[in-house]
Amino acid sequence: MMLEANCVCVLPLLFFWGLHLAAVAVSGEFVYSGFAGATDLALHGAAMVTPGGVLQLTDGAAVSKGDAFHPTPLHLRGGGKEDGAAAVRSFSASFVFGIVPVTPGMGGHGLALVVAPSRDLSTGTASSYLGFLNSTSNGSARNHMVAVELDTIQSPEFQDIDDNHVGVDVNSLVSVNSSSAGFYDDRTGEFRNLILVSGEAMQAWVDYDGGATRIDVTLAPVGAEKPSKPLVSASADLSTVITDVAYVGFSASTGKLRTRHYVLGCSFAVDEPAPAIDMASLPKLPRHASPKSKSKAALLAIALPVVAGVVTLATVAGCVLLIVRRRYRYVELREDWEIEFGAHRLSYMELSRATGGFKNKNLLGSGGFGAVFKGVLPTSGTEVAVKRVTHGSRQGMKEFVAEVATVGRLRHRNLVQLLGYCRLEDELLLAYDYMPNGSVESHLYGGKPALSWAQRFQIIRGVASGLLYLHEEWEQVVVHRDVKASNILLDGEMNARLGDFGLARLHDRDAELRTTVVAGTFGYIAPELALTGRASPLTDVFAFGAFLLEVATGRRPVEDGGNSSRLVLVDWVFEHWRNGSLVEAVDPRIQGDCDVGELSLALRVGLLCSHPLASVRPGMRQVMQYLAGDAPLPELATTHHMGMSMLALLQNQGFDAFVMASSSSWSSSVSVRSFDTSLSRGR
Ligand SMILES: *[C@@H]1O[C@H](CO)[C@@H](O)[C@H](O)[C@H]1NC(C)=O
Ligand SMILES: *[C@@H]1O[C@H](CO)[C@@H](O)[C@H](O)[C@H]1NC(C)=O
Ligand SMILES: *[C@@H]1O[C@H](CO)[C@@H](O)[C@H](O)[C@H]1NC(C)=O
Repeated sequence: MMLEANCVCVLPLLFFWGLHLAAVAVSGEFVYSGFAGATDLALHGAAMVTPGGVLQLTDGAAVSKGDAFHPTPLHLRGGGKEDGAAAVRSFSASFVFGIVPVTPGMGGHGLALVVAPSRDLSTGTASSYLGFLNSTSNGSARNHMVAVELDTIQSPEFQDIDDNHVGVDVNSLVSVNSSSAGFYDDRTGEFRNLILVSGEAMQAWVDYDGGATRIDVTLAPVGAEKPSKPLVSASADLSTVITDVAYVGFSASTGKLRTRHYVLGCSFAVDEPAPAIDMASLPKLPRHASPKSKSKAALLAIALPVVAGVVTLATVAGCVLLIVRRRYRYVELREDWEIEFGAHRLSYMELSRATGGFKNKNLLGSGGFGAVFKGVLPTSGTEVAVKRVTHGSRQGMKEFVAEVATVGRLRHRNLVQLLGYCRLEDELLLAYDYMPNGSVESHLYGGKPALSWAQRFQIIRGVASGLLYLHEEWEQVVVHRDVKASNILLDGEMNARLGDFGLARLHDRDAELRTTVVAGTFGYIAPELALTGRASPLTDVFAFGAFLLEVATGRRPVEDGGNSSRLVLVDWVFEHWRNGSLVEAVDPRIQGDCDVGELSLALRVGLLCSHPLASVRPGMRQVMQYLAGDAPLPELATTHHMGMSMLALLQNQGFDAFVMASSSSWSSSVSVRSFDTSLSRGR
């Protein structure tokens, strides 16, 4: 209400001064909707008002600083309170700013709104001191300064939380409280990340509550309503800080990275919300990296004589770089619930640099979920595989990221380690340990060297061990959902590592929206999964069985047998087993060099795991024991009359799985009889 009243006061004055007005003062408050004509600002260092009416604090030089102050002092003390001559009244400030680095994406150090005892910050230093403090004054109560910093460099000496934060500073560059730049969306409550050095204009609000002695800072993209939830709150009693005569202004500094810091407009009020800045009359944020104007410049340069050749090349190169950079989407998203997963977040810049800007030459492959790029993390030198997953709908993203983040905490020598993720508007980037030897699939069918039996057996046991960890050994049950040869990767020592956790979930959800298709890969999908769509550890066991048979035989779980017939691997191996010719099922490439005992054991474990009845399949712990020879494998009955895929088919068609499951022997005549009974009962 107060705000409206003030707007009414301010607007006529705006008209009176015309569009070029600078500040309008109404009883201790002021509004600058642009700085054209603001001749009485106190400017120091690199600070100046551009012909377009923009307050420029730094001019793009390295290690420079500038500050600008509203000319008249603030009256922040006393007021109505009789006993509180020392109390500082509530006040509010708002401002529209932009941080425009000379090289897109690489800027520093930052900009601050400062309330100080004088209009002279000449003793402040550049770089991490943001132009308003120096190494001796930092931390001293004699400064009598309060500032809100928009800092784009992580300075460990000031315990900065990251390289993109908003902090409340009282006499010191170590913030009382700070938060990564962003805002809470009023509609959804989601936290949305903002990148300060993006070269985009943003608005900030600073509200000091004198009664509660609390400072709230709120940030939003320019033109957006002020979000109701502040970004950061700091408890600070300014009664001992702010002097009787105090000034409000801005300070900014650069370090090695050349950057221009701008303020487009600001407003201030005591005891009420800062008046609205007139957005319509704000000057445009100067953009030094506009690809359009640069292309024109490049064309002109090309028309120049050969002498200009070198310059042209440089311009074109710069241009291409700029255009490429401009295509970077700086809209990384981060929400409240992601804070606990913070450790797993990677910045887009980092991943983009790691993969050379996702260049095609670094493309490792592209599969069902998206493209995978090879990269090297610039900070640690770690080799990574970066997967770009496009996510059409934002629905379910939270759950999915939560799952991805959960997966980041899993540690096992047979799992591909997830190193971190980065989330953009409709894209998710996942960084994994790089696996130099590719997938098992590429060795079976992709022309990579054939694996020996010893290697295959080690892979089988490795996958079993990884699944056991997921199903039984971690703090909660994790179902992989997409065990298959192309998802089993090989590290430098040819150890098997399971990749692509959780992604099937995402796929599931997308698929559910369109059709009722179940995630997974044909031939690896357990019958009850196809029927109900519900994945469980036992559906993983089924897929593991199919994978095991595949690795041993070198044949895909389902192959086209010609004449529109299909060869189902389980049935084929089962036939071999019934005929006592199991050893003949082995991949011809290793026929001579395999341990027949191991092979026969492995194939029988594979058959057991591939059983259409979930209740007959062993758990992964049993599988490990069978494979190690620590427990006897249950006998497979020979009187099986029906292909297992047939059984599965019937089960799919509404056959009562319970009755089938109640039979302990998977292929005995008892089982077939109960099957018949239930079938006739069903009719
Ligand atoms: C640091 O700032 C203080 C207070 O403004 C000033 O007295 C002092 O001379 C400055 N020190 C340096 C090294 O500039
Ligand atoms: C700055 O001052 C704070 C105290 O407010 C202190 O913790 C910090 O170490 C100081 N940093 C430097 C670099 O002087
Ligand atoms: C810091 O700010 C956050 C976000 O507003 C708030 O939740 C938290 O309580 C604050 N911490 C302190 C110590 O004031």
